[in-house]
Amino acid sequence: MEKLSRFGVSMENELLGLFDAYIKEKNYKNRSEAIRDLIRHSFVKEEWRNNERVAGALLLVYDHHMRELVDKLLDIQHDFQALIVSVQHIHLDHSHCLEIIVVKGRAGDIRKLHDRLQALKGVKHAALSMTTTGKKIG
Ligand code: NI
Repeated sequence: MEKLSRFGVSMENELLGLFDAYIKEKNYKNRSEAIRDLIRHSFVKEEWRNNERVAGALLLVYDHHMRELVDKLLDIQHDFQALIVSVQHIHLDHSHCLEIIVVKGRAGDIRKLHDRLQALKGVKHAALSMTTTGKKIG
């Protein structure tokens, strides 16, 4: 485990009250753990903003009866195959499929893949869950 350093933080009472309510709601045991998570969260956002190498998951819900949609989804995934780590396909009901595409690579390329898939007719929802490779944040 990395060595820990302590530092003091001053803030307005009202803001601290809001923060304490937040950490109680989120089940943090103490302020330090909550602050660490908020800082890590900000750094992950920066990794995505700065087009760094990141990880994530795309979640697609689509109607597989839509003409040619499955072919188009596969074509696009093959165009971006260097980014794709794994794909899980779940048949939700008679018509709908849920696909979970795990990705790793440049943030901008992952966003492009998300945009391409989202724009296809028949894709009802395309969510992008943005996380980190974990290398930069302690
Ligand atoms: Ni299916």
